[in-house]
Amino acid sequence: MTIAAGMDRALSLARLHLGRTAPNPAVGAVLVKDGRVIGEGSHAGPGLPHAEAAALDDARARGFDPRGSTLFVTLEPCCHEGSGKRTPPCAQRLIREGVTEVYAAVPDPNPRVRGRGMSLLAEAGVRVHWGPHSDEGRELIADFAAWVEETRPLFTLKWAQSLDARIAGGASRWITGEDARLKAHELRAGHDTVAVGAGTLRADNPRLTVRDGSAARPRRLVFAGATPLPEMADLFNDDDRALTWVLARRGSVLEQSRRLVGAQALEWNGEAATLGPLLLEAGFRRVLVEGGTKLIDWFLNAGLWDRAAVFVAPRLLGSGVAGPGAALASPLDLMSVRTSSVGVDALIEGWNPRSPAVRGVGVESEAVCSPV
Ligand SMILES: NC(=O)c1ccc[n+]([C@@H]2O[C@H](COP(=O)([O-])OP(=O)(O)OC[C@H]3O[C@@H](n4cnc5c(N)ncnc54)[C@H](OP(=O)(O)O)[C@@H]3O)[C@@H](O)[C@H]2O)c1
Repeated sequence: MTIAAGMDRALSLARLHLGRTAPNPAVGAVLVKDGRVIGEGSHAGPGLPHAEAAALDDARARGFDPRGSTLFVTLEPCCHEGSGKRTPPCAQRLIREGVTEVYAAVPDPNPRVRGRGMSLLAEAGVRVHWGPHSDEGRELIADFAAWVEETRPLFTLKWAQSLDARIAGGASRWITGEDARLKAHELRAGHDTVAVGAGTLRADNPRLTVRDGSAARPRRLVFAGATPLPEMADLFNDDDRALTWVLARRGSVLEQSRRLVGAQALEWNGEAATLGPLLLEAGFRRVLVEGGTKLIDWFLNAGLWDRAAVFVAPRLLGSGVAGPGAALASPLDLMSVRTSSVGVDALIEGWNPRSPAVRGVGVESEAVCSPV
């Protein structure tokens, strides 16, 4: 097995639980000995074994001795104990079990780890390396980085636009084709929440569910404004209505929201500084903001976003609702950009260079470890 293939497998294992491990990050681990996989593991949620421990247990259950094996893990092994932590530290166990080499895709942004896990391993004689596939590893822990660095959930901004940068208009409700819409459902499945502004709720009556056969059931979050919400909207009446949350300012719309969704109506004063802590407190970790223009512009102008996923359809609408970004104060180049074809449409994905996920969390620790 190659080094790249080992980490690929660890990334796939981590993705099995993406969006469902909060407040912990999704992590995957693979143990390889004499060129073959002897154990695999992933972290499935708080209180459950860490991926490294699960891989070691798996190896033992399959009758393998982990001594002399190499570990591929998507996040640096932890090395701390105590204060609310429910699982024993992994770095110490890897040393005890005789693992001789560790590849970790990214450092743990938790201030109690941040390179110390790898240093501990290196001091015990384990050969340690950062990477490969650091980009993919970073994607997996982006929500965790936003939480520990900026006390807020991860925000992904997603919209679909025409070549003339409109997000609505023309005869059809849809801008993009069927393939892009399926891809958008995949994106929803990787988040615990799908959010829209009240304008979109009024215009489209969206359901915001995942329709690709996945088990994911993200929360639906409405940003209410000054106008009363449409009470007949599907979000307040369909089978998933228990998943609907509303943010509203104090006043008649908040009172109406409380009638519609009870305690899931949260009072928010409209300020960027209070949004993150408020959402974290209510259990939101990965929020996909699906529009429309006014809401996405608010996130762009507040600088409160991590990644963008923009579908561009090969069509000109000529008239309609202008897309996000027109009111941005200064230009911005996205980082780690990926462009792909989805049916006839293009999907451009990239990171906000100011997101804690790409700011090089913990890079100061890389010097202690040899590069791959
Ligand atoms: N192509 C796409 O990807 C896509 C996706 C979604 C929507 N759309 C289209 O976009 C259009 C709606 O967009 P829109 O810009 O009019 O509305 P919007 O962004 O969906 O909603 C804006 C409204 O949300 C409320 N709001 C609460 N907090 C806000 C905040 N912090 N920032 C901004 N708004 C906040 C306000 O409601 P009040 O008005 O009550 O004060 C505001 O007017 C529709 O035509 C829809 O079809 C397209």
